[in-house]
Amino acid sequence: MCDFSIRRWRLTWLTTLCALAVVSSAAIAQYRETLDFDRGWRFHLGDVANGQEVALNDSSWRALDLPHDWSIEGEFSQQNPAGAGGGALPGGIGWYRKTFTVPATDTIRRVFLEFDGVYRNSEVWINGHYLGKRPYGYSSFSYDLTPYLRYGAEGNVVAVRVDNSKQPNSRWYSGSGIYRHTRLVTTGRVHVDHWGTYLTTPVVTADSAHISIRTTVRNDAPDDAPVTVRTVVVDGAGREVVSVSSAARVPGDSASEVAQQLVVRRPALWSIERPTLYRAITRVECGRALCDDYATPFGIREFAFRADSGFFLNRKHVKIRGVCLHHDLGALGSAVNDRALERQLQLMQAMGVNAIRTSHNPPAPELLDLADRMGFIVMDEAFDMWRKPKTEFDYHLDFPEWHERDISDMVRRDRNHPSVFIWSIGNEVMEQWTNGDSTAAPIARELAGIVRRLDPTRPITSANNNGSTDNPVFHARALDLLGHNYHQEAWASFPAQFPGQKFIITEAMSAYNSRGYYEQPSDSVAVYFTPYDTTQGQKPNKNYRISSYDNRRASWGSLHEESLAIFERYPFLSGMFIWSGIDYLGEPTPYEWPARSSYFGVVDLAGFPKDPYYLYQSEWTSAPMLHVFPHWNWRAGDSVDVWAYTNAAEVELFLNGVSQGVRRKQGNVRHLAWRLGFRPGVLRAVARTGGHVVLTREIRTAGRAARLVLRPDRATIRADGRDLSFVTVTVVDDRGTPNPDAEPMVRLRLSGAAKIAGVDNGDEIDHERFQRDSVRLFAGRALVIVRASRQASGVTLSAMSDGLEPAAARITLRRGDRDVGVQAGSPTQASRSP
Ligand code: GAL
Repeated sequence: MCDFSIRRWRLTWLTTLCALAVVSSAAIAQYRETLDFDRGWRFHLGDVANGQEVALNDSSWRALDLPHDWSIEGEFSQQNPAGAGGGALPGGIGWYRKTFTVPATDTIRRVFLEFDGVYRNSEVWINGHYLGKRPYGYSSFSYDLTPYLRYGAEGNVVAVRVDNSKQPNSRWYSGSGIYRHTRLVTTGRVHVDHWGTYLTTPVVTADSAHISIRTTVRNDAPDDAPVTVRTVVVDGAGREVVSVSSAARVPGDSASEVAQQLVVRRPALWSIERPTLYRAITRVECGRALCDDYATPFGIREFAFRADSGFFLNRKHVKIRGVCLHHDLGALGSAVNDRALERQLQLMQAMGVNAIRTSHNPPAPELLDLADRMGFIVMDEAFDMWRKPKTEFDYHLDFPEWHERDISDMVRRDRNHPSVFIWSIGNEVMEQWTNGDSTAAPIARELAGIVRRLDPTRPITSANNNGSTDNPVFHARALDLLGHNYHQEAWASFPAQFPGQKFIITEAMSAYNSRGYYEQPSDSVAVYFTPYDTTQGQKPNKNYRISSYDNRRASWGSLHEESLAIFERYPFLSGMFIWSGIDYLGEPTPYEWPARSSYFGVVDLAGFPKDPYYLYQSEWTSAPMLHVFPHWNWRAGDSVDVWAYTNAAEVELFLNGVSQGVRRKQGNVRHLAWRLGFRPGVLRAVARTGGHVVLTREIRTAGRAARLVLRPDRATIRADGRDLSFVTVTVVDDRGTPNPDAEPMVRLRLSGAAKIAGVDNGDEIDHERFQRDSVRLFAGRALVIVRASRQASGVTLSAMSDGLEPAAARITLRRGDRDVGVQAGSPTQASRSP
C-alpha cells in the first residue's frame, strides 16, 4: 500500500495518507485485533516435568509453526497402540510452548487465546497459571489470558500439554497435537462475546428476507456500560444493504443479549449453484467511542424437509448427494490446510457431490468457510460414541462430564454458517443396539434438547445402523430426521415402517476398491469378511489389493450402483452420504495390518479418483463425461472386461479400429460393459447422444517406460507459507502413453524457497513415511505436495529414477492475493481418462 518508491512530487500527499492510515489502524487496534498465533512455537515430543514453568529452558525444543500433527511425522508400525484401525502411527504426549509480548498500551484490554482444535486432552497454562483442559480433540475453545499477562518487554509464556498416549481412542486416524489454527484476540473491556452473534433468517421470500440477530455483549469492567449496538448488513461487494441500532445497558462483569431485526429487500439467496454471502458487521459503541467491531458472514436461504418428497432449498427440490469425510488430509495428516481442504472439496464437487457429512465430529472451521463459499450442504456431527465405548480409551470416558459443553460449543461455533443444514448428535452409538436400553432415549433427548435450545432452525438427526423400529433412539422421539446407515434393502419400506417421518440416509455403500487394480472377470460380486466378522463373505485377496470394478463390498454395505439406484428412485429419501468420499488413514477394512488406510473411498488417499468416482459423475453431473477403464496393458489372449461410465446416450467401443459394439445403460445397471480378448493397440470409445458424437476417449497399450512426467495442479501459488501445489508424478513410454502399472521409486529434489510437505501414492500398504524426498509410484501414479515459503520466488521440483528420463516442474511463489487459481490439471481435468 504505502509504496514510497514513486515519483517525488506525489510523496508528500502519499506520506500524509499513509500516516493517516497508520493512525486509523492504531485506532482500530483499540477495539478488536485478531492475530494469527500459529507462528513461532516450540515443540517437545514426550512428557516434561513442569513443562508449563516460565523459567523452563525450551531453547533446545524444535521450532515449528502450527497447525502441527506429530503422528504423521512418525513411522508406521504394527506396534503403535493406535493399531491399524487408528492408522498404525504413533500417539504419545507432546508439549508446545510459545513466548510472546503484549504491548504496555494493552493493559486495559482483554486478551483471549483461541484454539480451533487440539487432539487430545489439551491442558493450557499462561505464565505458569493453569487455564484449563479440553479432553475432546475436535472442540474449539478460548481462554481469557488477561488476568495473568505481563505487559511490555517482559515476555509471556503459553504452554500446552497434549496427551494422546492412551490408545486406541479412535476408530480412524486422529492425528496428535495442535492440529488446527490458533489466534490471539484482543478486545476492549466491552466487547462481543466469544461466538457472540447468532443470526437467523426466519422469513425468506424473493422480495425480502427477515434477519434476526442476537448479539451477546460482554462487559469485563466493574461498572455498567451503556452501549449502542449497530448492525450493518453488507453484501458481497461490501455495499451497505441495511442497518439497525439498539441501545442497551450491560451490567458490570456481566453480559447482555441484544436482539435486532432487519429486512433485506430483494435478497440474493444462498444456494448450491450460487452461494451468495452477506456479512453482518456489529459495531458496539460505548458513548461516542467505538468499542468493538465484529463481522459475521451469513447467507440467506430457506429450506424444508418433507416426509413424502425430501429436501427443498429456496422452495426448489434438491436431492442431497453427499459424502462422508474424515478430517485427515492424507499425507498431511490432520494438520489443517486450506488448500488441501479446498482440493478435497473441488474433487467432490466435480463428482457431482453437493453435501458433506463431517463424520464423526465437528470439523475445522475452514471446512465450513469453504462449504459456505463453494455451495455445499453440511451435516455437522458431534460424536461417534456416547456413554458406551467403541475403543478402550475413546471419548466415552469423557462423555459424562463434557458432552454438554462439547455439543453446545459445536452449535454455538457453527450455527451462523449457511452451509450447515443438519445437526447430528451421534454416529452408530452403541446405545441404539440394546432394545429397551434405558440410557439411549434420555441421552438422545438431552443432546437434542441442548442443540434445539441453541438452534431451533435446523433439523436434528443421528446416524443409526440399527434400522429397526425398536431402536430406542428412534423411540426417544428426539430426532427431526430419521438417519439410517446402510440396510438399503429396507429403504423402500421406510414410509410404512415409520409413518409420517422424514428420512435421510446418513451413510451408505462401504464398497471396496484399490485404485488401478482390476481382476477378471468383472461380473462376480464378492462380499469380503472383516477381521471382526468372519461369518459373512469370503477372505479378501492375500495381496491387499481390491478390484476396482464396482463388485467388492462389506457385508453391511452395498455396491455403489445398488444403493445409488435405490436412493435416486425414492423422493422421500432426502439425501444420502457415501462412505466414503475420500480414503482416510486407519480402518483398512477388510484387512488389518499391514494395511493402514481405508479402501472405502471413491478417491484414494493421495486424491486420485478411483473408477466408481465416475459412476457418480455420470449420474450426478450434466457436462458431457465419459470414463473408460481398465488400462490396456495385459497379456496376449487375456480376457478383459472394459467398462464405461458416461452421461451420453450410448457408447461404441473400438479395438484397433474394429467396432466391439454399442452399449446403452439398462435399468439399474449404470455402467456399460464389453468383454474383449486382449490385443495390444488402441481402445477407442465414442460417446454419442442423439446420434452426435459428444466425446471420445482412447486408451493405448503403453510400451517400455521411458520418462517421468510431473504435473502440478497449480504452477503459481501464494508465497504465504501455507499454500500448496499438488504435483502428480507419472511414467510414460517414448510416445507419451502413461504406463499404468509402473511402480518405480522416484527420488525428488526441490530447489528454492519451498518444501516437500508430503508424498503419497494411494497404496494402502505402503509403510514409508509421508515426509520424505522419494516416493514409489503405485498403479502408475504418485503425488508430491509442495508447500510455499513466505518468499516470492520460483522453485523447481525434479524427479529422477534409474533407467527413466528425469522430469522437472517449475512452480512460482507469488505474494499477495493475485489470482493463483487452478491451472493445468485441475481436478476435473486430472480426473479424465488417460
Ligand atoms: C460405519 C461407520 C463408519 C465406518 C464404516 C465402514 O458403520 O459409521 O465410521 O466405520 O462403517 O464401513
